[in-house]
Amino acid sequence: MSKKLFVLLSVLLVTVLVLAACGGSKATPEPEKAAPPAAEEVAPTEVPAEEAAAEEAPAAEEEAPAEEAVPSEGVVTLNFVGSGPGAEAEFTKQQIEQWNSENPDIQVTFIDGPTSATDRYGLYLQTFQAQSSDIDAMQIDVIWPGDLAEHLVDLNEYGAADLTKDMFPAIVTNNTVDGKLVGLPWFTDGGLLYYRTDLLEKYGYDGPPATWDELEEMANTIQEGERGEGNQDFWGFVWQGKAYEGLTCDALEWIYSSGGGTIISPDKVITIDNPEAAAALDRAAGWVGTISPPGVTGFQEEESRAVWQGGNAAFMRNWPYAYSLGQADDSAIKGLFDVTSLPGGEAGKSAATLGGWQLAVSKYSEHPEAAAKFAMWIGAPEQQKARALNLSLLPTVPALYEDADIAEIVPFMPNLLNVFTNAVARPSTASAPQYNETSTIFFSNVSDVLTGKMSGEDAVATIALDLEDLLGFESGAP
Ligand code: GLC
Repeated sequence: MSKKLFVLLSVLLVTVLVLAACGGSKATPEPEKAAPPAAEEVAPTEVPAEEAAAEEAPAAEEEAPAEEAVPSEGVVTLNFVGSGPGAEAEFTKQQIEQWNSENPDIQVTFIDGPTSATDRYGLYLQTFQAQSSDIDAMQIDVIWPGDLAEHLVDLNEYGAADLTKDMFPAIVTNNTVDGKLVGLPWFTDGGLLYYRTDLLEKYGYDGPPATWDELEEMANTIQEGERGEGNQDFWGFVWQGKAYEGLTCDALEWIYSSGGGTIISPDKVITIDNPEAAAALDRAAGWVGTISPPGVTGFQEEESRAVWQGGNAAFMRNWPYAYSLGQADDSAIKGLFDVTSLPGGEAGKSAATLGGWQLAVSKYSEHPEAAAKFAMWIGAPEQQKARALNLSLLPTVPALYEDADIAEIVPFMPNLLNVFTNAVARPSTASAPQYNETSTIFFSNVSDVLTGKMSGEDAVATIALDLEDLLGFESGAP
């Protein structure tokens, strides 16, 4: 392993530990450990160029004359930070292996970053603040272009417009900050309702629930029935209830679908303090320990999927990635589920939070051109299609929704295209460059409602006041 990579991995590990100690990455709280080193003590250290180069020489090393300690002329090595839940990291690694074998002059190392978006943001910010060249390219969340733009290169300078012209214009716009394309759309995401087709039929339901009331009723009935038959581990509904970015996504769906708005409107009015939003949070708090496990307040995507894929839940809120995994041979529910849009409020208004990931290149990279070239390869339609088929990640290229292989293997993609294209955005554009803090205020208070520390009414009032302080915007009706 090269020294540079070793340093980066150490930073990564310590960052994960620091974040975990702050309540970051474990589903169940662990006993307090000795205080981890302060973040600044572990800021990436620069490795002298020759030293790094000597240890990084890939395949070319063997051909180089014995006394030559640098890679053969023109070989560039890059670090790419990826990751994601389920099988995503593993597949990305395979794609990178393909790139490396086809591009001996640009060798990419995959770094598996924290899966939690909240923790990953912390890692990137720390690396950027040190202006470190350790990360060349990375995966960024759909909510980060505004917050991170100052640290990223304009991919249009490297020819990305050739690719973005065939992508969903709204996603391209989201990645364009002050005229610069800071992220190349890689896959899009939308919250979905997973439901057990066999159990709906068993309990006499014609189809999935259209409203939250219906979901509660069905979840209750199925849970009681399955437990009555001996499965004490069975739950009605699993979702993401931990205090992290995923909770912002779930709570936005409950609130928006109940007529409570989008926290902050696109024209910068703080709209969260309203009775519909408060009631939506109280409703979700009522699920904890009734139709959802008490531990759901510590669940991220993977913890929900574990319960669901083990056959122990009637319904799950999750992103599309869980589809392929659920249909895999080792899944207890293979062939026994389907996906649809999430339930709505009384008015039947349904909402999917818009998610998704982009490819970005750090301004502090020593090889931005090579990094952009790699990003444009792994972000191109061919690799997006491979990710759609193998990982059920949604392409950002509309034409792929008409692709015959996609229609056959992941039929929900074309079937639910209107759900994905109408997904509700988190208020990241309105609050940039302070979206991350905005979301932290939001999910922390929502978490307090779920754990019974606060009422929905108090939470929405507190969120509004804190956001007024943070952003200087006024409050108003949604
Ligand atoms: C998914 C979404 C991303 C979101 C995250 C929250 O990865 O694509 O946008 O922030 O989940 O956990």
